[in-house]
Amino acid sequence: MVDNKEKFAQLRKVIAEHKDEPGPLMPIMHAAQEIFGYLPMDVQIEIAESLGITLSEVYGVATFYSHFSLEPKGEHVISVCMGTACYVKGSQAVLDKLSDSLGIQPGGTTKDGKFTLLATRCLGACGLAPVLTVDEAVHGRVTPDEVPAILSIYED
Ligand code: FES
Repeated sequence: MVDNKEKFAQLRKVIAEHKDEPGPLMPIMHAAQEIFGYLPMDVQIEIAESLGITLSEVYGVATFYSHFSLEPKGEHVISVCMGTACYVKGSQAVLDKLSDSLGIQPGGTTKDGKFTLLATRCLGACGLAPVLTVDEAVHGRVTPDEVPAILSIYED
């Protein structure tokens, strides 16, 4: 396990590589999210200070793009598609069932750090609506009744 000190060393290296390029903020933030898994406040401060920009600029970008996360994510990330095709095929009921089963709201992470639940835009697999992904795995034509079986795959 890489400790925080080492992660910050990696971050400083990335900052040094991009600092003098035009538009260094996005690549640095992408790399920071890769390194830390999310963008904690001390990481945002480090980025802002290194680039000589304000913290609110960094925070603004971090909150604008859904790719960036301000909270640590769980071991498994469940994304339920709320795009039109999935919505009309009942993805809300699937999302509600997951929310109930895990005891968290969309956007939340279970206390044991096992699962993060997200509601997302079209995942590009509308023919399989309603669709959810768990990490890289795609589950199609999901019904609320199938939720326990899907979760059990990832609960050891
Ligand atoms: S609307 Fe859900 S995959 Fe496209």
